[in-house]
Amino acid sequence: MQKWPFKIEYLNQQGHGVTKIADQLAIIPKTLVDEEGTAKVLRENKKTKFLEIDEIKNQSDRRIKPQCQYYSNCHGCQLQHMNYADEIEFKKKQFTHSLNSLFQNYEIKIIKSDKHRYNYRNRVQLHYDLNCKKIGFQNPFTGLITPISNCILANENIQAAIDKFMAHDIWHELVPPTEPKKGHIEFYDIGQKVHQTWNQPHGSKGFTQVNTLLNEQVKKILAQTHKESKFGNTLELFAGNGNLTNHLKLTKRVCVDFYNEAQGSFINLNLYDKNALDRFKFSHSSKYKTLILDPPRKGFNQLAQWAQELEPKQIIYMSCNYHSALKDIENLNGYQLKEVYLIDFFPNTHHFEALIILQRA
Ligand SMILES: C[S@@+](CC[C@H](N)C(=O)[O-])C[C@H]1O[C@@H](n2cnc3c(N)ncnc32)[C@H](O)[C@@H]1O
Repeated sequence: MQKWPFKIEYLNQQGHGVTKIADQLAIIPKTLVDEEGTAKVLRENKKTKFLEIDEIKNQSDRRIKPQCQYYSNCHGCQLQHMNYADEIEFKKKQFTHSLNSLFQNYEIKIIKSDKHRYNYRNRVQLHYDLNCKKIGFQNPFTGLITPISNCILANENIQAAIDKFMAHDIWHELVPPTEPKKGHIEFYDIGQKVHQTWNQPHGSKGFTQVNTLLNEQVKKILAQTHKESKFGNTLELFAGNGNLTNHLKLTKRVCVDFYNEAQGSFINLNLYDKNALDRFKFSHSSKYKTLILDPPRKGFNQLAQWAQELEPKQIIYMSCNYHSALKDIENLNGYQLKEVYLIDFFPNTHHFEALIILQRA
């Protein structure tokens, strides 16, 4: 296979090195700016080549030795070859670039995970292929599976469950006969027990945040915010089990999600239904002082409509995808930025959690 020489010019939003090769954009994961070497093409289209490192000849002095034995082949992590300070700086730079299109004069507050850069995940998905008897992480560029038998991002309980599952090398006999030949298994630590589910969307047993320690930090920030400017009547959308407000003493709270049983202050509603707001208004008060939302990656493009109807004084938007969050916020009328946090929920990956607190101007 042809080996292409490269010199990295910049890192893209996923933390992959970018350069030009033969007049095409070239993306080479796990490289750093100014690094030089050779790389092999994994996949390409008219505009872009996706490559993997063959050899690094001129290594950046910012590079560190990744802790994971699978790092060079596994695409679960993208930033393990950066020191942690650089990882945070990289994330801050990406976030700032997007925030600048909407806001001026703000300071990003950063909640780091430096003491827990590894062993933090309470949920891990492994992909399997019974045809070739492989289980591990899937390469997004090739669809191929890198076999792994441990993940240094998994917490102790998850790793123990994976060890048990992989013992004796007969995991393929454990795939239920009703499951497809290719798919995924999720290991999910819910406290007393690690659940295993086959080919279900992640968190199908009910969503909980993947990083238990940093989730506690978010709850502390919300408690402090509530202390400073009382939340009053609060509506929490995409509330799951009410994680973000369970610990707060609120005068009135309504939580909406689509998997909850409707019970007490919990409402079962598909928030992406085009009539969701009308359905909600039909049976519930439409005035709230505080609106909290924590949608899936695609965001909530009906936010502006809900805000116009409910007229909340503050909106607290938590998101694992700041791009969709900022798009939703851009459509709001009459709100200004009060505080913004970068919470490093997913160390070693390009992902992080954004917490954006807005106040009616
Ligand atoms: C990022 S999680 C947040 C959960 C919760 N805030 C927490 O901290 O644990 C997103 C939530 O959105 C819910 N969800 C996804 N699609 C939905 C829909 N169409 N309508 C209502 N809720 C939905 C999921 O069930 C999940 O609980």
